Amino acid sequence: MIALGSDHAGFELKEAIKNHLTENNIEYIDFGTYSVDSCDYAVYAEKVAKSVVSGECEKGLLFCGTGVGISIAANKVRGIRAACCSDLFSAEATRLHNDANILCLGGRVVTKEKASELVDIFLKTEFTNEDRHIRRIAQITELENNF
Ligand code: RB5
Repeated sequence: MIALGSDHAGFELKEAIKNHLTENNIEYIDFGTYSVDSCDYAVYAEKVAKSVVSGECEKGLLFCGTGVGISIAANKVRGIRAACCSDLFSAEATRLHNDANILCLGGRVVTKEKASELVDIFLKTEFTNEDRHIRRIAQITELENNF
């Protein structure tokens, strides 16, 4: 199960990715927003982040204008590693190396076609599970615990 959320600036891209997930038989929960009315991205970052850390959803996809604000907000939730990507190399590498659990995309940055490709590679790529990457992620967790 995939958790989806956006603000108004990411709404249209979220809707396009919902169609893409449905076409590929991937189940999702849409945590909103549900229209293009102006709203605040941190609200939806929190809903999706909570769903991922609780285990309700395996991964999350978040959308705002740039993908940046909503990624900053999601990364404030303990256990979230949210990556804002607009290129395929980074979307794959953040799964391989960072075990990122949320992908953030900018509705004003990437096309629907590019976003579909980014989502596909993010969802299909497994974490390498290599010692050096496990160690580095543990250091991120330590930072969360210390501050
Ligand atoms: C909304 O205008 C915009 O600021 C927001 O979607 C996002 O891009 C912030 O990072």
